[in-house]
Amino acid sequence: MSNMLEIIIKKRDKQNLTHEDIAFWIKELVAQKVPDYQSSALLMAIVLNGLNEQETAWLTHEMMHSGEVVDLSSIEGLTNDKHSTGGVGDKTSLVLAPLVAACGGKVAKMSGRGLGHTGGTIDKLESFPGFSTEISSLEFARLVNENGLAIMGQSKNLVPADKLLYALRDVTGTVPAIPLIASSIMSKKLAAGSDAILLDVKFGDGAFMKDVDQARELAMAMISIGKHANKNTKAILSDMNQPLGFAIGNALEVKEAIATLQGHGPDDLTQLCVEAASLMLVQSNHYDNVELAKQAVLEAISSGAALKKFKTFIEAQGGDAHLVDDISLLPQAKFITPFYASSTGTIQAIKAMPLGLAASLLGAGRLTKDDVIKFGVGFVLKAKVGDNVNQGDVICEIHHDDVLSDDVIQKLNDAIVIVQHDVETPVLIHEICE
Ligand code: URA
Repeated sequence: MSNMLEIIIKKRDKQNLTHEDIAFWIKELVAQKVPDYQSSALLMAIVLNGLNEQETAWLTHEMMHSGEVVDLSSIEGLTNDKHSTGGVGDKTSLVLAPLVAACGGKVAKMSGRGLGHTGGTIDKLESFPGFSTEISSLEFARLVNENGLAIMGQSKNLVPADKLLYALRDVTGTVPAIPLIASSIMSKKLAAGSDAILLDVKFGDGAFMKDVDQARELAMAMISIGKHANKNTKAILSDMNQPLGFAIGNALEVKEAIATLQGHGPDDLTQLCVEAASLMLVQSNHYDNVELAKQAVLEAISSGAALKKFKTFIEAQGGDAHLVDDISLLPQAKFITPFYASSTGTIQAIKAMPLGLAASLLGAGRLTKDDVIKFGVGFVLKAKVGDNVNQGDVICEIHHDDVLSDDVIQKLNDAIVIVQHDVETPVLIHEICE
């Protein structure tokens, strides 16, 4: 029989925890029988001394089973899920899900709302008046069977252990530890029930992981957890040193996603969506290799099949699909103000973090949990890293409903860095890990 003091001492002294130790901690935590100071002490010991692969897999397993585990067995065929570790302008799910479904895949996705400087898929989709992700598990499975895709809000009882641990980690300096991040993300993915999981692990200024080596380490930790749980798990390592695409903000991102499904989206977004959709179709055994899958995905864009899927999906979840045909009916900001290049040169950086925060200040995200989202506001970039600009060129449009604050302008000035030397265009997809 374990006890918390012995478990903390073990980890402090760099010994391995047993499955029983970890199960005891998580069960007692959820039963609210462990004081916060003991969980916090153990979290810090884990940050300092780590968890091995086996301990991390046990922790994930116990967290996953701390609440509801979604049963997708009524869905025919293998189901796909995809998770991004968080970015700015990241509207890939909006494009990927219909792309995969148009090629015969089954996308059963649980999504969240915006968090901190990053946007959330549900907020973006709610740009369509009437669209709802509050659907029952039964309805969710029915829609996936019928249309090949559905998106559901994260159930309140999914991985309660993560909610408790995350709140403690946030205030005890114990967020940045690979085993803790990996188990937090993967416990939620495993509880959401899909057969195959594709992870988009972001690195760079706007991401949790600041460089590609850290991103690889996190990706490999999550893949190892996926393997322990017998799930086909792969990861893309992608650059978040600038926002993805040009649009940041809910309805603005929806418009860019629609353009991408129509075949004229930004190059970086299109590349990531095509690559990810192809990998997902291979993971769920629809194609033998990525090249064949890619042909099908490109065909789904050029034939209009992917856009049609998107409309079916919006309509099936209560949204008005006419807005896909006439995007001028999507929410629009009251004002559009140009933001000019302060000097002539080459764009060296468009830092995703200050831009994401500035978008929240405009009302695209929440500053407090009760804030109401302004769907039309955000930014549309007119240049990307590596582009040459002249002083006075419009490099960004600010879409806003209120008087612009100095804070927003300051954040834009901080975000967009222009230098007087050549800058290499960054590579978006660094590698695929499996
Ligand atoms: N996202 C999560 O869900 N958990 C973490 O620990 C970090 C990012």
